[in-house]
Amino acid sequence: MPELDAIHTIYNTYSRFYDWIFSPFFEQGQRIATKMMGVQPDEKVLEVGIGTGALLSFYPKDIDLVGIDVCQSMLERAEVLRKQIGMPNVELHHMDATQMDFPDSVFDKVMAAYVISVVPDPIAVGEEMKRVCKKNGEIYFVNHFQSPNPIVAAVEGVIEPIGQCLGFSTSLDLHDLLKEINLEPVLERPVNFLNLWRIVKCINPK
Ligand SMILES: C[S@@+](CC[C@H](N)C(=O)[O-])C[C@H]1O[C@@H](n2cnc3c(N)ncnc32)[C@H](O)[C@@H]1O
Repeated sequence: MPELDAIHTIYNTYSRFYDWIFSPFFEQGQRIATKMMGVQPDEKVLEVGIGTGALLSFYPKDIDLVGIDVCQSMLERAEVLRKQIGMPNVELHHMDATQMDFPDSVFDKVMAAYVISVVPDPIAVGEEMKRVCKKNGEIYFVNHFQSPNPIVAAVEGVIEPIGQCLGFSTSLDLHDLLKEINLEPVLERPVNFLNLWRIVKCINPK
């Protein structure tokens, strides 16, 4: 996985044209995942690695949401969008997802869209997502994970160094990750181009 310094450099560079490049690939997953979350008015939501705020326009406008990211220039774009849409209960914070500055069990729903294969330590991020999520709260990942097809998985292994240079891993194994953080998927839905990404929903057992 890329180191945190590399993440800063990569996403500071990406921030100006991130939406333009990635929206065509990522938008379906963002739209379906937010619909699946079905956020209710009394629920508090955390979005980890909120980036430019690409999911904001799919949530209810009055959502009570905290978004965190380590890249200030991505967060600045999210703030512009938040104001444009008019989402008064969305707060954005510069924060590392491996060491979140939140007490235990405060969020009803926690989302990480296209983040878990970007962070240097996905297990630490997953554990933090669990810690800050309430018992029986919902944890969502939208991501590309290693294919269950051995031939595709071999190709993903070969292109892993290219992914690393671009700031993500192509071969993160979903089930190894969930086992490490003691989460069971209750729903997996393939999305995006060639169904190469998945929305994964877990219920936090604590
Ligand atoms: C591929 S972008 C996804 C952005 C957004 N979730 C979306 O769906 O478009 C990954 C984001 O994760 C952020 N990120 C990477 N490592 C992080 C960490 N340790 N803590 C918080 N955010 C992180 C990056 O700065 C970047 O904005």
